[in-house]
Amino acid sequence: MVEPTPDPFSRDHALALDAADPLARFRDEFVVPDPTVIYLDGNSLGRTPRRTLAALDRVVRDEWATQLIRSWDHWLDMPQRVGDLLAPLIGAGPGEVVVHDSTTVNLYQLLHGAAAMRPDRPVLAVDEHDFPSDRYVVDGVAGATGRTVRHGFDRLDDVAVVVRSVVDYRTAEVVDVAAETERAHAAGALVVWDLSHAAGVLAVDLRSAGAQLAVGCTYKFLNGGPGSPAFSYVSTELHGVIGQPIWGWFSQRDQFAMGPVYEPRADIGRMLIGTPSILALTGAEAGISLTVEAGIGAVQAKARTLTGYAIDLCDHLGLDIRTPRDPLRRGGHVSVVHPDARRLTAELIERAVIPDFREPDVVRLGMSPLTTRYVDVFDGLQVLAGLAH
Ligand SMILES: Cc1ncc(COP(=O)(O)O)c(C=O)c1O
Repeated sequence: MVEPTPDPFSRDHALALDAADPLARFRDEFVVPDPTVIYLDGNSLGRTPRRTLAALDRVVRDEWATQLIRSWDHWLDMPQRVGDLLAPLIGAGPGEVVVHDSTTVNLYQLLHGAAAMRPDRPVLAVDEHDFPSDRYVVDGVAGATGRTVRHGFDRLDDVAVVVRSVVDYRTAEVVDVAAETERAHAAGALVVWDLSHAAGVLAVDLRSAGAQLAVGCTYKFLNGGPGSPAFSYVSTELHGVIGQPIWGWFSQRDQFAMGPVYEPRADIGRMLIGTPSILALTGAEAGISLTVEAGIGAVQAKARTLTGYAIDLCDHLGLDIRTPRDPLRRGGHVSVVHPDARRLTAELIERAVIPDFREPDVVRLGMSPLTTRYVDVFDGLQVLAGLAH
């Protein structure tokens, strides 16, 4: 074990922090083919879990190739099973989460369903800076249902549904889910939360926050793999009440009766559409299982210290940030602001340091608690500072 050194801005200090990190062993659970690559984009696409390779191999060889269509006996309820695995990570109960389709599709479904529960309210509300898909879906559903869109959440008395990200994808700022859900509900509005940048890095507690509806992706901090399916959360009290706009056979009460009339299920399966991607769900299950094993409390604690460490280093190196300094108000990434952010990002990638660029001036550094080391943050920021000054 490396002893902590008095200089908090030395590389040895970063190594000491890694040596003391209770989650350090989880990095060995991932494929790291080139240890010289400093990966700071696990908040966009998480690294590849080793167990995903084994799981995909098993599902393809033993289940698809060998058992063929007989495997649908246990594939059929996989969206719900993976949902139940994920549920405790977001404070949901069993039977309240289902993993299927993409965040955009799931958001469209829940927003449509929620808007139909507030037929007399003419407005949908979204932040004008929220993630593009979220804004576009809100615009689309507003147009299709004869509503208008309001940017911002100050006035909610005529709002049918609020669509809101828990963690801002540009700054990592966290919204108080409990307080904002309560305020919206008190005004008579429903809320669909987008947990894409929160799931697998923050211990979001949907049920105790009173949240009823949420979506989010599994390919970022949950390490589900490229295009792994998203999740829909619907709290139990809305099961059997909320409808959805895409009437497919997977949400049909007696799916294989092939009946003439659509009769939706009364449970979370009501959100399903058509045949789920079993291979993609296999990746999601493997990734989610790692965060379950690590414990979301420990993951959140490391996210806070790792981002705090990055912010201290940025201050020391003269890099400006646009991420809250209060650890309770930030997610798992740190946004460095620079007028040449696009060029800096390209130059970092040339030097095998991988962050991402966000318009107009942000180099976004993702810190994924199961795979990012303190020394990665240290080394990456030295390169960034060298290019920025
Ligand atoms: C906050 C947020 N919402 C929605 C999406 C869209 O997700 P998908 O491409 O899975 O539909 C993303 C994708 O990164 C996101 O970050």
